[in-house]
Amino acid sequence: MSTRNLPHTNGQTYLICLLAALAGLLFGLDMGVIAGALPFIADEFGLSSHQQEMVVSIMMLGATFGALCSGPMSGRIGRKKTLLIGAVLFVVGSLGCAFAPDLITLEISRFLLGVAVGVASFVAPLYLSEIAPEHIRGSMISLYQLMITIGILAAFLSDVGFSASGDWRWMLGIITFPALILFIGVLTLPESPRWLSMKGKNDLAMTVLTLLRSSTDDARKELDAIRENVQQKQRGWQLFRSNSHFRRSTYLGVLLQFMQQFTGMTVIMYYAPKIFAIAGFATTKEQMWGTVIAGLVNVLATFIAIGLVDRWGRKPILKLGFSVMGICMGLMGYMFFVGISSAAQQYTAVLLLLIFITGFAMSAGPLIWVLCSEIQPLAGRDFGVTCSTMANWIANMIIGATFLTLIDFMGSAATFWLYGILNVLCIVLTIVFVPETKNISLENIEKNLMSGKRLSQVGSA
Ligand code: BGC
Repeated sequence: MSTRNLPHTNGQTYLICLLAALAGLLFGLDMGVIAGALPFIADEFGLSSHQQEMVVSIMMLGATFGALCSGPMSGRIGRKKTLLIGAVLFVVGSLGCAFAPDLITLEISRFLLGVAVGVASFVAPLYLSEIAPEHIRGSMISLYQLMITIGILAAFLSDVGFSASGDWRWMLGIITFPALILFIGVLTLPESPRWLSMKGKNDLAMTVLTLLRSSTDDARKELDAIRENVQQKQRGWQLFRSNSHFRRSTYLGVLLQFMQQFTGMTVIMYYAPKIFAIAGFATTKEQMWGTVIAGLVNVLATFIAIGLVDRWGRKPILKLGFSVMGICMGLMGYMFFVGISSAAQQYTAVLLLLIFITGFAMSAGPLIWVLCSEIQPLAGRDFGVTCSTMANWIANMIIGATFLTLIDFMGSAATFWLYGILNVLCIVLTIVFVPETKNISLENIEKNLMSGKRLSQVGSA
């Protein structure tokens, strides 16, 4: 579609997308906050290293569980109600953390927050992909990633703010406020027209589409396409067992999320202060502010993706991003190998780290979520997105749990080189398997997939 012919998007759609993307903010806040809070929690409850690891990782466990449940749940009760349950869990979990009298209450609360994060990371991109018109779909889902990065940054800042007083209860508890805003915001959202149509509620779907699209004519056309698309009744697991084309898109979603995590970005986010320490920044203050700058670059570079995703397309941006990340990991590994002694070397290492973050934020950060929500056929979308979202959390756990061990075992240089190689592998996988889905409707992607086109071709018109 040429830019000249792009339909006008009504303002309501942007507002709705922004509200749904708020779920990403909570995701980011809860992911980012723990790094700064942990030392104080450990102090107050006298936690061993293993107990500290539990406080961190129980959230990922909850997220995997949340992602697993949200597929069937959002298929049955709808996207909106599922998101609402996620919002309630965010509120309950944050309050539970803030007032936890002991370790076990804290762990249960972190688990509940994890479930909320899992639900949010499943249902928000799915909802956005179903509500946004195709010419801005990529940017709207990238908006979700932008909110994640803003959440991470806000958490880093709040950690710095509360670190002087050591008040970890406030660090964790303050998240209750955005969680309440999410809850109220979600109450005002319309249900996804695709889900409504799937449930045979076509009149309601038409009402929502009329609200979202600039003309009744556009709304009618879209509803017709959706109705045609929801004819086939097979669903989820059943479809996975019986249809090899759907199996391909499910595996692709899982692969994409593993690729996102194996870039190494998540370890940079979890262990940024530690990496600044390896690069020779000795004081906690330097490390914390370095972490805030890393978070800020992550936010800013996401705008590059939002601006480019629907113009350049997904594939070229991904290839560029993986290349940038691969090169930076390789060079950082080299610097750790030869040793960092002078101030110039320290700052070069930081610069490389920031360029790496830029590479991720402008590519794999948002685009993997975009692609995962686009490639699944409607009849199996809940199942397919559940699998890919779970893969994100499982890969996240693997990465988080092995980084420090890898550094102890192979040294910093080799660990960074390993991630460099994984990024090169991601370029190859992108070329071979990833489709270009720019400016093509979800219905056409589905047609191509189900007619047996190669995965890399399912986005062509
Ligand atoms: C990823 C997270 C990552 C974050 C960084 C998200 O898309 O799923 O694992 O830490 O981006 O911005």
